[in-house]
Amino acid sequence: MSDLTFLAISGSLRRSSHNTGLLRAMQSLAPDGVTIDLYSGLGTLPFFDQRLEGGPEPAAVANLRRHVREADGVIIATPEYNSAIPGVLMNALDWLSRPTGRHALRHKPVAVLGASPSQFGTARGQLVLRQILHRIETPVVAHPEVTVFQSHRRFDADGAFSGDPVTESLLRALLAELVVLTQRHSPARTA
Ligand SMILES: Cc1cc2nc3c(=O)[nH]c(=O)nc-3n(C[C@H](O)[C@H](O)[C@H](O)COP(=O)(O)O)c2cc1C
Repeated sequence: MSDLTFLAISGSLRRSSHNTGLLRAMQSLAPDGVTIDLYSGLGTLPFFDQRLEGGPEPAAVANLRRHVREADGVIIATPEYNSAIPGVLMNALDWLSRPTGRHALRHKPVAVLGASPSQFGTARGQLVLRQILHRIETPVVAHPEVTVFQSHRRFDADGAFSGDPVTESLLRALLAELVVLTQRHSPARTA
């Protein structure tokens, strides 16, 4: 397998975010040949405004789109806000979904996961995220569904993952499936 680089996007701006902590844990669990880069610009994106599309591309948007285009795949860890996804993540997806048909996420393999203190562990939010990605022709890993419930028991006050073995094995399995999906979508790149 050629080396693969995945871009990890956390849908939380919180300093001690459980979702960002989950992505950091994935970085440390990545198999040989897989690098995971954590995107940190979500809070710098302007609000999507269709009027801006006619003018110069905002620098933060160009930066995000370039990172996504250059990555072999993307990992999105989303919090669940009001049974959906946070506005900052939706804003990023709106930018990444344009221009229609030529957007950076089109045909880009994606893995989704999420952590929440509730019993459902972002199950509802992830459904919303999957529906959005389906709409913009983004292939998403089907299994495993990684819903990290009762996250307050698994992360410390700084957002560091405590490392429970079940979650770790799910994170490894999700990464392995993202590698498979990436191979299916660009076999020449991963041969
Ligand atoms: C505006 C808002 C809405 C929320 N709605 C939900 C929800 O619908 N379901 C849920 O499980 N948690 C909900 N939560 C709690 C978040 O899951 C919790 O704050 C989580 O730690 C956020 O993720 P983070 O740690 O990555 O920032 C909500 C939190 C906020 C701030």
